[in-house]
Amino acid sequence: MAIVVKSGGRVEEWTAELRAQMPHEDLRAWPDIGNPAEVEYLIAWRASSEELATLPNLQVVLCQGAGTEQWQKPGIDVPVVRLADPEMASEMAGYAVAWVVRHQRRFDDLATAQRRGEWTMLDHAQPYGYRVGVLGYGEIGSRIGRAFADLGYAVNAWTRSGRDEDDARHYAGLDQLDDFLGASDAVINVLPSTAATTGLLTAERLAHFVSGSIFVNVGRGTVLAAEADLVEMLDNGPIAAAVLDVTEPEPPMEDSPLWTHPAITLTPHISGMTQVRSAAKLIANNVARLRAGEQPFPMLDRSRGY
Ligand code: GLV
Repeated sequence: MAIVVKSGGRVEEWTAELRAQMPHEDLRAWPDIGNPAEVEYLIAWRASSEELATLPNLQVVLCQGAGTEQWQKPGIDVPVVRLADPEMASEMAGYAVAWVVRHQRRFDDLATAQRRGEWTMLDHAQPYGYRVGVLGYGEIGSRIGRAFADLGYAVNAWTRSGRDEDDARHYAGLDQLDDFLGASDAVINVLPSTAATTGLLTAERLAHFVSGSIFVNVGRGTVLAAEADLVEMLDNGPIAAAVLDVTEPEPPMEDSPLWTHPAITLTPHISGMTQVRSAAKLIANNVARLRAGEQPFPMLDRSRGY
């Protein structure tokens, strides 16, 4: 039984890496898949329900990215193995550290002073008193939290049900969300897009941010109830800066203020790129588990939405 790899741009790279990892498998590249009835596993970032319907014996999808909302559309119910790649998580931690430290240590103000010919030390908050809040503390969020904790920052973590890693102060559930936001000088959103996280950050909640804080979004744009609320909080509320690697829609509409607002930095969904080499290894490990009759991991849990 065959495995199909379906990949937008990098199908040759994916095929080569996957072949190297599992030389004994019958690996085929979409759309040249031969007899569709022979396809048992699909390795893909996304596929429509119509495309999936062409594979009558499909057992499981192995996702090429961390997010899984694209597999939770109506008409798609195939089991999905998520990609939890520590290399991607580390890359995202680097992104978060770079933007938060740049804000906290006022590197932009120093650069402005330099251009004015000024040699000026500027006061800035010290890491030991600076509280970094991570919204969503799974594989990626906890990697980000550890990166900040290693640098001496105080880490707050918000999850639905609470966690107990001791390098962070934990907040659980909607009851503690405003307290979490009000105790974090930087807020980094890592939450996946689910029914429970869509619109979580309403205007009322954004108003609880700490004065002068920075919001970094590497999760999904849907966490904001409305982008206009964020703009309002930057103009007239407590938030000083926002760095958005994800937006809703993505990219933002042509006339969106996100493009030009002086306190907003947009990056094109690059905080953690799937590295084909490391991802192919994790996917091949899961294929080996499936072949051995074992459970691959982590599985998408449709009841919680990730
Ligand atoms: C990117 O956002 C991914 O989910 O891999």
